[in-house]
This record gives sequence, structure tokens and C-alpha cells, in this order.
Amino acid sequence: MSSVAIRDFGTHDSEAVSALIRENLLKVNSRDYPEQIINRMVNLFSPEYIKLISAVRKMVVAVEGENVIGTASLDGDTLYTVFVDMNYHGAGVGRSLIQYLEQTARNSGVHVLQVPSSLTAEHFYAKMGYRRVRVIESEEFGTDIIMSKDLKLVTYREYTPTGEEFIRLIESAGWQGITEKGSRQLETALCNSWFIVSAFKGDQLVGMGRVISDGVVQALICDLIIVPDEQGEGIGAGILKKLLRKCKEREIPMVQLFAAAHKADFYKKFGFEERPAAAPGMRWISRDSV
Ligand SMILES: CC(C)(COP(=O)(O)OP(=O)(O)OC[C@H]1O[C@@H](n2cnc3c(N)ncnc32)[C@H](O)[C@@H]1OP(=O)(O)O)[C@@H](O)C(=O)NCCC(=O)NCCS
Repeated sequence: MSSVAIRDFGTHDSEAVSALIRENLLKVNSRDYPEQIINRMVNLFSPEYIKLISAVRKMVVAVEGENVIGTASLDGDTLYTVFVDMNYHGAGVGRSLIQYLEQTARNSGVHVLQVPSSLTAEHFYAKMGYRRVRVIESEEFGTDIIMSKDLKLVTYREYTPTGEEFIRLIESAGWQGITEKGSRQLETALCNSWFIVSAFKGDQLVGMGRVISDGVVQALICDLIIVPDEQGEGIGAGILKKLLRKCKEREIPMVQLFAAAHKADFYKKFGFEERPAAAPGMRWISRDSV
């Protein structure tokens, strides 16, 4: 895919936008909605209707060269008509459209953005950080899932959470066997870290990660936790990158971590690999052995 740009909709785009919406309705959304609803929507999204809604909403298009390959619109605090040409699904066009309109909404003072999602797109919006608020059933349009997202930007700081904050994060992750230490001891544990990065949305702590290290040879990355409501938005990756950059800066040769089995692929993206079978990681279980 050559470079994709996002620009304001112009009335000359109405045929192309109508065509790509109609094609998605007929070939993609039709898997989740009854035929009469799809037909009603296909009739509705004529080029004339697109022109009408573009007059009352901020409508944008994604283009590759001259070709319109996606569209989305914003009306106050609500996103509508997010559609990507089927040939470009999964190529990041939807994400770019959403991010563009989120920034537009932020610039006009919107704090929480909503979207009435199709059944088809719920997982896509969840990936973009939207959470299900309620479900609306109507005879005209079938099921709409109302989702919303807090638009505050994530900031990263070298902040050491308090013992209580650490406990809240651990509990949100459902980890066992740590909180029993109590908040004072856990705060001591955090203070003995070599490097900590915390993530905030506004003034709310939403995640952390830390490195325990001698600062020269060995480093262990641990306690990378993002609260469940904020997972899937790239915050874990943001924290991990900062931890790894610090290790790289100090040229630490041994940087290790323990991944849950289903998280191994996440860490592989950052250059980790499983330890060789000839040198497996081990942990101490039988403490009466000494
Ligand atoms: C939903 C839609 C707009 C997504 O656009 P897209 O360009 O295909 O999505 P992107 O490539 O930007 O995807 C961004 C991420 O969401 C994921 N994603 C996209 N569609 C998904 C789906 N249906 N289920 C689960 N994840 C999905 C992608 O895998 C990607 O994840 P990654 O960050 O791990 O790579 C597009 O598929 C579409 O037009 N669907 C039909 C029309 C529709 O239902 N529109 C919504 C009307 S409310």
C-alpha cells in the first residue's frame, strides 16, 4: 500500500463514498444483519444522502493517490459512518481515520467520544480503546452497540506508585501471592527498583512497569501492568519501550523477563526470544531444600 492521506470530504467524493459504504454493507455487514436492514441501509447511503450528512458533520476521507479508500465522520462527540474499502481492511486505514477524528474532537474540547458500532465493528473499536456502554435495538437499523472512549492523552512518567496504588494495579491484574506483603513492604519493593515508568490518563494511574537491575550487567523487567479498561491501546508497549530504551542506553547485556504463554508474541515484537532449551529459566519452589 503506497501512502495513505486523510483529507476533508468534498462533494465530488460522494459517489465513491457511497459506493464503498454500500459494498461493505452488502458483503461485510450482511454477515451480521438481516437482509431487510441491509437493504434499507444500502438505499439510505446514496450519494445524495452522503452530501446531506456531510453538510452537518465533519466528514473525512482516506485517499491513496486519487482513490477514496475509506471514510468517517464526526458530529459533536459522536463518530459515524466509519467504512474502509474492503480491499484495504486490516491495513491500518480504519485506525488512521479514527485517530484523525479523535484529534479533531480533542481540539474542539470533547473529552469522551462515542460511537454507535455495528455488530461487525465492535472488536475493531475495542482495539481502538472504546468500551461498550449499552446496546440499542431498533427495527430500522437492528443492533447498535454504543461504545465510548475517554480522549485524555496517555502520558508516561518516571513515577514510583505508592504501595496502595501498586496493590490496586496488582489486584486489577488478578495476580496472586504478592499483595499479602502489605502496602509498606510493596512500596519498599518499588523504591528498590532500578527504573520505573508509570502511565497516566489525565491524573489517573493506568499502568506501570519496572526494571530491577544492577545497572551494568543484569536487568529483569517485571510488573508490567495495565488496568483492564485501558488494555489494548498500546500503553503496555509504550511503557515497555521506555524500559528497554533505558537498558539500551546503559548497554546492559542481559535483559530478561517472564512472559505468560499467551503474551510471548507481544514481547517478541520488541526483540525478545524464548530462552534456549539448553539454558531454561528456572524458579525456586522447594524452599526447605536449604
Ligand atoms: C471496521 C473497519 C472500519 C476497520 O477498518 P480497518 O482499516 O479494516 O481496520 P485497521 O486495519 O485500522 O485495524 C486496526 C486494528 O483493529 C483490528 N481489527 C480491525 N477489524 C477488526 C475486527 N473486525 N475484529 C477484530 N479486530 C479488528 C486490526 O487487526 C488492527 O489490530 P492491530 O493493531 O493488532 O494490527 C472496517 O473493517 C470496515 O469498514 N468494516 C465494515 C464496515 C463497518 O462495520 N463499519 C463500522 C460501522 S459502525
